[in-house]
Amino acid sequence: MRSLNVLITGAGGGMCRGINRRLADAGHTLLCVDIDAERAEAAAEAVRSDGGKAFAFAADVTTPDDVKRLRRDALEQVGAVQAIVNAAGVLDRKMLLDHDAASFAKVLDINLVGPFAVIREFAQDMLDADFGRIVNISSIAGTTGYPYPSYAASKAGLSNLTRSLLMDFWGTGITVNSVCPGVVDTQMVIQEVRDQVPNKVPTGRVVEPEEIGALIAFVLTDDARSINGADLVIDGGATQIFRLFDPQHA
Ligand SMILES: NC(=O)c1ccc[n+]([C@@H]2O[C@H](COP(=O)([O-])OP(=O)(O)OC[C@H]3O[C@@H](n4cnc5c(N)ncnc54)[C@H](O)[C@@H]3O)[C@@H](O)[C@H]2O)c1
Repeated sequence: MRSLNVLITGAGGGMCRGINRRLADAGHTLLCVDIDAERAEAAAEAVRSDGGKAFAFAADVTTPDDVKRLRRDALEQVGAVQAIVNAAGVLDRKMLLDHDAASFAKVLDINLVGPFAVIREFAQDMLDADFGRIVNISSIAGTTGYPYPSYAASKAGLSNLTRSLLMDFWGTGITVNSVCPGVVDTQMVIQEVRDQVPNKVPTGRVVEPEEIGALIAFVLTDDARSINGADLVIDGGATQIFRLFDPQHA
């Protein structure tokens, strides 16, 4: 199996604990990026203490200078990046009337413009190598209705950015996919949502971060080279169920 230099944004977050572990177990070298330097270092250290290879980088994906510096530092310390996992993201629990244009735009900046900027910065290296794997962590909230419109709009945008980049990478060895999780066992998920899982998710359980990691590990393999432009939904079946007339779950 090919072992890659994989840049992971938001690497210090809850879901990335599982992603980092699975990708390191698959033999990849991780570039753990987070806006919070301590979180980035802790993530890299956790991988190293399990015997994996990882480097920490502090960068804000919404700051162009940080993203440029990230590529320079990555090249110098590790080498060319061959895969990107855009996992940095925020959920602002504001409904319409609680938002203003600035707070709405901030969520789009982190969840949508940030991934674009990272892909834009590293694209030429992948094109030069005629190989790359890009995985954007979107959400089922990008395809269904959701109470928090900035988050839903940002993830809908991210999934469609994924599809639209197929044009740029046509005929190259670069694939671009979205992973769309449902309810994952992280701090982002409030107790009220967890309590609803048995009645709203056909598997009756939350998704573990390791399951997201296992899916991404597969996407990085050569066997996955025809998976391209997909929304890889991993939600226990939640989005496929229409419960309005189900007396058990209504
Ligand atoms: N937890 C879930 O149930 C769930 C479901 C669907 C999608 N997602 C998505 O998965 C991704 C990871 O979620 P999580 O639950 O691990 O969240 P988390 O809050 O635990 O982790 C997010 C990480 O991103 C970092 N970050 C935030 N802004 C940044 C920036 N500007 N630049 C660089 N790093 C930044 C944070 O410091 C944090 O370490 C997010 O994109 C989220 O929207 C989560």
